[in-house]
Amino acid sequence: MPTWTDALPDHALGPDDLRPVEIDGHEIVLYRVDGEVFATDNQCTHGTAQLCEGFLLGHEIECPLHQGRFDVRTGQPTAEPACAPLRCWPVKVEGGRIWLQLRDTDAP
Ligand code: FES
Repeated sequence: MPTWTDALPDHALGPDDLRPVEIDGHEIVLYRVDGEVFATDNQCTHGTAQLCEGFLLGHEIECPLHQGRFDVRTGQPTAEPACAPLRCWPVKVEGGRIWLQLRDTDAP
């Protein structure tokens, strides 16, 4: 049975917007694109940049440091120098809240 953690009120994430959240030591970014919500790790896989300070371009997040890009739906890199995928997190919207599924084995 998956455990869902309350991450944010749904209204706190606007259209085509992103918000960082920290839950149980996990630094995660929530994105809303075309009405759907996605979640990835906040730290870029190429370096130490925080993706929450980057630019959301459609379904891509552009890193603020070297402009690498990732697809927020899959975590796959879409522009160099990013080459390793981002971790994505299961997310759902229910009862006016955004919920994340954090697995116990995924220690930060
Ligand atoms: S730190 Fe993100 S692309 Fe280099």
